[in-house]
Amino acid sequence: MGISGASGSIYGGRLLRALAGGGHDLSVCFSSAAVEVIRHEEFDAGLELLGAPTEQVLEAFLTGYGIPPGQLEIVLPGNIGHAFSSGSSLVEAAVICPCSMSTVASIAAGISSNLIQRVADVMLKESRPLVIVPRETPLSEIQLYNLYRVKKAGAQVVAAMPAFYHNPQTIEDMADFIAGKVLDALGVGHDLFRRWEGSRA
Ligand SMILES: Cc1cc2nc3c(=O)[nH]c(=O)nc-3n(C[C@H](O)[C@H](O)[C@H](O)COP(=O)(O)O)c2cc1C
Repeated sequence: MGISGASGSIYGGRLLRALAGGGHDLSVCFSSAAVEVIRHEEFDAGLELLGAPTEQVLEAFLTGYGIPPGQLEIVLPGNIGHAFSSGSSLVEAAVICPCSMSTVASIAAGISSNLIQRVADVMLKESRPLVIVPRETPLSEIQLYNLYRVKKAGAQVVAAMPAFYHNPQTIEDMADFIAGKVLDALGVGHDLFRRWEGSRA
């Protein structure tokens, strides 16, 4: 799983929480922009992590989502020599959640300047499952075209667009809807939201 620097680190946190809770063998790579977004979105109340080093931010992030340190592998984005950089490494599926427009553009253009982008490139070239969760609004023509290109190249695009028909009560409910849609795209069972069972009218 890659977490890039789009707003919505809660989407990544709730998805990680669900996957880690399901006992999946997980590795996660945070881009440097993601760490910066986490500093702002997750810890504004405390402020003590705004200038904190990356390791401290990530540990607090994972702990905050109920993931004990050591339960998953954390990989640095610059670790381009990691096993997952090669198609010979049998990664079952990759998700980028949330996915910035910068990362979408890199994937669309086949640029692999960090491990998140390289894993995406590998998944597409090997025809393996890649799910991206873009978050931006409004969208420029360039961004829409890049999303079209990654979809056409074989990725699933699960846009961070929460629904309301399941009556979410909290921000976590809204984020869980997106996390659940990612798990649906991956074929992983979950009970993160109540499914639509048809109108009672
Ligand atoms: C607080 C904050 C929120 C951001 N939100 C978004 C966003 O929602 N979508 C987006 O595409 N970029 C967003 N950005 C900009 C990206 O972080 C920036 O383009 C960065 O270079 C992306 O790098 P990455 O794709 O390697 O993570 C945001 C940046 C900050 C600091």
